[in-house]
Amino acid sequence: MCSIIGYYGNGLAAPILVRGLKRMEYRGYDSVGVATKDKAILLKKGVGKVADVNNLLHLDSLPGSVGIGHTRWATHGSVTDVNAHPHPSSSGQIAIVHNGIIDNYEELKSELQQKGYQFKSQTDSEAIANLLQFNYDQTQDIKKSMIQTVSRLKGHYAFVAMFQDGTLSAARYHEPLIVGVGKRSYFLSSDVLGFIEKTDVAIYLDNGEFVMLNKGGLEIYDFEGRPVKHQTTKVSKEFADAYKGDYAHFTLKEISEQPSTIIRAGESSGDAINSVTDFIKHAKSVYITGSGTSYNAALVAKYLWQKYAKVKVEPIISSELSFSPETVEPNSILIAISQSGESADVLEAVNIARKSNAKIFSIVNILTSSLAQESSLVIGMNCGPEIGVAATKSFTSQLGIIYKITEKLCDGCIKVDSAKISEAVSEVLLDHSKIKHIAKELRDITDIYILGRAVHYPIAAESALKLKELSYIHAEGIPGGELKHGPLALMDSNVYVIIINPGDHTYSDTLTSAREIKARGAKIIGISNKPSDVYDHWIEIPTVDEVFYPLIEIIPIQLLSYYSAIEKNTDPDYPRNLAKSVTVK
Ligand code: F6R
Repeated sequence: MCSIIGYYGNGLAAPILVRGLKRMEYRGYDSVGVATKDKAILLKKGVGKVADVNNLLHLDSLPGSVGIGHTRWATHGSVTDVNAHPHPSSSGQIAIVHNGIIDNYEELKSELQQKGYQFKSQTDSEAIANLLQFNYDQTQDIKKSMIQTVSRLKGHYAFVAMFQDGTLSAARYHEPLIVGVGKRSYFLSSDVLGFIEKTDVAIYLDNGEFVMLNKGGLEIYDFEGRPVKHQTTKVSKEFADAYKGDYAHFTLKEISEQPSTIIRAGESSGDAINSVTDFIKHAKSVYITGSGTSYNAALVAKYLWQKYAKVKVEPIISSELSFSPETVEPNSILIAISQSGESADVLEAVNIARKSNAKIFSIVNILTSSLAQESSLVIGMNCGPEIGVAATKSFTSQLGIIYKITEKLCDGCIKVDSAKISEAVSEVLLDHSKIKHIAKELRDITDIYILGRAVHYPIAAESALKLKELSYIHAEGIPGGELKHGPLALMDSNVYVIIINPGDHTYSDTLTSAREIKARGAKIIGISNKPSDVYDHWIEIPTVDEVFYPLIEIIPIQLLSYYSAIEKNTDPDYPRNLAKSVTVK
């Protein structure tokens, strides 16, 4: 959601913080701010993206070698300068940055107001600043004030506080917080991307721990104040790849990486894939869950496992499970799919399933994430950092793993030849000219429908999600046969319909749907390995073994969504109102 960062060292803090924030902007990006400790605590913040606010306010010119920074994705209080972080306490002697939600902030706020502490913002976060200040005023002791503060906070949070004497202290409770250990410097960050340019040595804090950084160095405690020891970890060099390189946007770079990320999907998790498959084969009930794109991947699993391995699996939208926890039968298996491994809805689904004694397995990209820690078996997507907010390469990596599980589940009835699939994906990526041309045509379109049958329906749903996020066009995925049960009423000459129609058992029925739509005047974009006169635009995909079409047919739609964003002059990497990892429910 938001990103938080802190720096304690002997360099100038503000430029380091601003660079770190730029790299973590994918997490949330409606406003930004930095505070440093010079003679007093200095603070600048404003609404907009990091680069824009920095150009205007020169965040990176603040003096001092200790500081904190934040990019916000608004939850409590609208997007305004005042609601942007850092938030100072009412005396200005402490400033904090926070990621997460404080559930009892109203109660804390009114208590503190009665004691004379003033609030300027509408945020829940400001309660942390004033609660810390209150506890510090009582104790004059930073460690005690942290212990007392976390004992009062309800919700989930990671925050970094900067005190008047230059001490940084940070606490973690169900939101990520990582310590970067550099040469004579320390970083506190929501993501290793915040400090990877400076150091690849990290300490992953556990829930219920806080750190203190001052002249004495780094100390880690649990919430009761007992010292905690942690090993340092070497962060994968892959994270250093989080640059756009020659690409205009991360989204385009990540779409283009798919020929290699598909090959790497689950590569170093062979044992976990074998064990998960074994458990699925012998389980009474299997559930598979995720949010957004990851849920669409779960839907693909349902079709493939049922068709090829005769295994029934029930896909569950993660955010729905808390409203029907009885769905999960005792002693079953829950497979959770999540790129970030930090989606609050997915973690909550895991929590609920655990109460029914379910075994938890996961398919994740970030192996240090909360979801990975919660799972007894973890299959790594291995696709490297995905910075573009819209999921692209992580989706095909998820599918890559689902195919590998399918192959094992059906005892080799399908053969996953990753090299061949990768070649076909490369072929689609070779020439963008036709897709760019179609994107131009779609510039002023308000509605678009995507049709697919059977396993192509989840791809239609994923296509609609990509178009919504990137092009802001209203888009809807429709199972082909449902057309005549309602959506046909919407078809007229203002409408575009994408038909996902590879040459498999769904081909002729879907072609018939295309003709029915065409007869009502709508324009048809056909994604197929076979041409047809019904298509106003034909996006050709290579012919592959029919089971693998889903992995190929999503690629042109990712590109179309990307180029539609370019046509509309919006930023494809950071769609409005969204955040890369949705750590709030
Ligand atoms: C869509 C998208 C979101 C995520 C969803 C789940 O492009 O990015 O729908 O797929 O928020 O995120 P993870 O997979 O990190 O749990």
